[in-house]
Amino acid sequence: MKDKLNTLRKKEIKAKEGGGIERIKKQHAKGKLSARERVHLLLDANSFEEIGMLVTHRTKDFGMGKQIFYGDGVITGYGTVAGRLVYVFAQDFTVFGGSLSETHAEKICKIMDLALQNGAPVIGLNDSGGARIQEGVRSLGGYADIFYRNVLASGVVPQISAIMGPCAGGAVYSPAMTDFTIMVENTSYMFVTGPNVVKTVTNEVVTAEELGGASTHSTKSGVTHLSTADDVDCINHIKSLLSYIPQNAEEKTPRIPYELRDETRAQLSSIVPENVNHPYDMRDVVKGIVDQDTFFEIHPAYAENIIVGFARIAGRSIGIIGNQPMALAGCLDVDSSKKAARFVRFCDCFNIPMMVLVDVPGFLPGTNQEWNGIITNGAKLLFAFSEATVPRVTLITRKAYGGAYDVMNSKHIGADMNYAWPSAEIAVMGAKGASEIIFRKEIKAAKDPAKKLAEKEKDYASKFAHPYRAAERGFIDEVINPDQTRIKMIKAFNMLQNKVAKLPKKKHSNIPL
Ligand code: HXC
Repeated sequence: MKDKLNTLRKKEIKAKEGGGIERIKKQHAKGKLSARERVHLLLDANSFEEIGMLVTHRTKDFGMGKQIFYGDGVITGYGTVAGRLVYVFAQDFTVFGGSLSETHAEKICKIMDLALQNGAPVIGLNDSGGARIQEGVRSLGGYADIFYRNVLASGVVPQISAIMGPCAGGAVYSPAMTDFTIMVENTSYMFVTGPNVVKTVTNEVVTAEELGGASTHSTKSGVTHLSTADDVDCINHIKSLLSYIPQNAEEKTPRIPYELRDETRAQLSSIVPENVNHPYDMRDVVKGIVDQDTFFEIHPAYAENIIVGFARIAGRSIGIIGNQPMALAGCLDVDSSKKAARFVRFCDCFNIPMMVLVDVPGFLPGTNQEWNGIITNGAKLLFAFSEATVPRVTLITRKAYGGAYDVMNSKHIGADMNYAWPSAEIAVMGAKGASEIIFRKEIKAAKDPAKKLAEKEKDYASKFAHPYRAAERGFIDEVINPDQTRIKMIKAFNMLQNKVAKLPKKKHSNIPL
């Protein structure tokens, strides 16, 4: 009996070493932590319960019968982060390059099923050479089993993917279907076809880093939501992200106790410049409204003309969507519409109230935008806001022009409370453009057309370059002084905390994908 137990204990130790100490050292030499180190760093001390530690693959082909590693290249289980339950899998690159076998996939599916049944987030730490080549279609089937569960779990429990090594081929589609993807700079990459295939097919010469590294995906493609400096930074970002989101779609957004004090924020009064054409950083507005140091930006380097992220206001977690006058004057374009629409849908899935900050001169004009489908893509954001049933509060800081006024969480598409600063301008378009169109004949016939245009512009601006027309119609609930914005927002979100809104009965809607 004792011998048997010793043998079992040895198996367990072997499982914990993954592919062996030497291989872990190689992993460290690349600047990467081992899979087990990552899991322990993520979870609260002593909270990890491993599932399937002694699972092995079932392949006999290609001499695989002689290469057995307990755990089969993935560590799976559950534990807590800041005391809240999470399910986790961490691929172990030291075992067959973390490649996905049938049993490796079964282990991941098992924790995904548990997460779905028990209502807690799934966190995947990806570091894998892709489908286990020796297993052929069985590993492809394993991937599809995971993909299927990604979709079933979508909107039920949050799913977060960290890319901490290779992630190539069809394997990229699991992270792509999760809610957030976080990559590690220099040690991770994601692509459907690697540099060699790219060279063969298109003759392009590109490195793995250029093709699918963290900086590429956090700036150009938007595939990753966050780019992090190293494994530790990546795991810290996962922990921060989790702190803002509920465990599942049945739960309310997390809330930290907060007592009201003087909530006046004088700094908000001096952010919008006198000259309406001068930019300012919408992040300053966000920081002036939310609790100190709580803004957690998502996609900070991608489609910078819109900012999205989480924050806390009086302790309550909220989602923020704001036009950014610092980039493309805050115009909506294809990428910013997609970025914001996806974020809005996440917030709505998980009961996270939204605060929308508006300073938008319109949609970005040009052939590039039209040919890349600004119509369909802009519609995504309009659709996402219109469909959202969580509390939705809007503040117009400056421009709200044209269709973009409607899109940016206007009252007409279901926003609950709409505020404007006195500097807000709500109109079909800016005073100059509008005057040039509607007074064209008069301006042309004038002795001094430039003077006439200036006169008309002034007249138009006095009629429309303010929020009061909209307030008269009830499209704006209140024109507020900037320094009072924080308290107004706190009160509005408190008032809306028990909001119940239902969409008409349907199987699901048909968002313009
Ligand atoms: C089996 C694999 C493997 C795989 C790596 N290994 N990938 N074993 N199946 N997919 C093994 C290697 O043989 C090696 O074993 C060990 O893992 C480490 O790999 P190295 O090549 O030494 O590491 P490195 O130099 O860091 O290169 C990593 C790599 C490379 C770039 C990921 O291993 C690689 O290109 N692997 C193949 C990638 C691939 O084509 N995968 C299939 C993609 S298609 P030893 O014993 O020698 O140390 C796909 C389809 C999914 O995934 C479809 C879903 C629908």
